[in-house]
This record gives sequence, structure tokens and C-alpha cells, in this order.
Amino acid sequence: MNKSRILKSWFIIFILNLTFLSWPVVASGLGVVEDRQAKFKESKKGMRVLRHSIKNQDKNEALHAVDFHIAWSQKLPTMFPRGSEASVSNGSDASGDIWEDFERFERLNLDYQKAALMIRSELDQGDYEAAMRNFFKMARSCKVCHENFRN
Ligand code: HEC
Repeated sequence: MNKSRILKSWFIIFILNLTFLSWPVVASGLGVVEDRQAKFKESKKGMRVLRHSIKNQDKNEALHAVDFHIAWSQKLPTMFPRGSEASVSNGSDASGDIWEDFERFERLNLDYQKAALMIRSELDQGDYEAAMRNFFKMARSCKVCHENFRN
């Protein structure tokens, strides 16, 4: 082998190593961001369904829609592991402030969860007016968290 071929194979090995060694780190980091963004998108879509079904007093559809929010709010904080804040490469809008005060982040998430649970019990009782009031409360809880913790 001449010098330039040796250099070339070193270079290839170097790139391969970079690719294989860094892939799991990048992938796991991106995975959680993509997963939570997909859930947030779903939750946004679900808001429309929930509002319409409360308005139309469609109990089954409304219960199904609100159950999504209850389940998602239980999982939401676990989808924010340390180090998954917005960076130039991960496409996230998560503010670094989340990890400065994770308790506050969790409290705002609890406001979201409480509103969803209230909606559920009001639907159970057939009180659609109260369910609608709490629907707007829940929508506000999305906004409050975004104003505090989304870039
Ligand atoms: C406790 C905080 C919190 C609550 C509550 C919350 N969000 Fe978010 N949301 C975030 C954060 C943080 C991001 C940024 C996530 C990222 O990009 O990594 C986000 C991102 C989003 C996105 C953008 C997803 C994307 O594709 O980039 C949508 C849509 C969204 N939220 C909708 C909602 C809706 C609808 C609700 C209420 C039903 C809600 N969120 C409640 C914190 C919250």
C-alpha cells in the first residue's frame, strides 16, 4: 500500500467508527424528542375531537378523547430526560428552563392532568357544561406550560 491508500483506509475507518459509535447516542436522544413531539401533535388533534364531542354530547367519543390526555399527562414528564432540551441538531423546542425547575414543570403538567380528570368525571355525570368549562381550563394549561417552557 502506498501512503495515500493507507491514509484513505484510516480515514474510512475513522468515519465508520464515528458513525457506529455515535449512532446510538444520537438515536436515543432524537428518539425521545421525536416521540414526545408525535404525542404532542396527537394531543393537539385530540383537542378538536374532544371539544366537538363535548359540544355534541357524544359521551363515548368524549371519554375516549379525554382518556388520551389522562394517559399522556401521566407519561409526559418521563419524556423529558435531562439532556433532551433544544439543541441545534435535535429539532426540539424544549426550553433548558425545564431542568432548572423540574418540579414547576411537573406542577404545570399536573394542572393539565387535573383538568383532564375533571372532564372525565363530569362526562361520567353527563354534565357537559362543566366538562366544556374544564375543557377550556385544560386548553389554558397547554398554553401556560408552553409560555413557560417552550422556546
Ligand atoms: C407541562 C408542559 C406542557 C404541557 C402541559 C403541554 N405541553 Fe405541549 N409542549 C411542551 C414542550 C416543552 C414542548 C416542546 C417539545 C419539544 O419540541 O421537544 C411542547 C410541544 C408541543 C407541540 C409541538 C410538537 C412538535 O411537533 O414540535 C404541540 C402541538 C403541543 N405541545 C401541544 C400541546 C397541547 C395541545 C397541550 C394540551 C392539551 C400541551 N401541548 C400541553 C410542554 C407542554
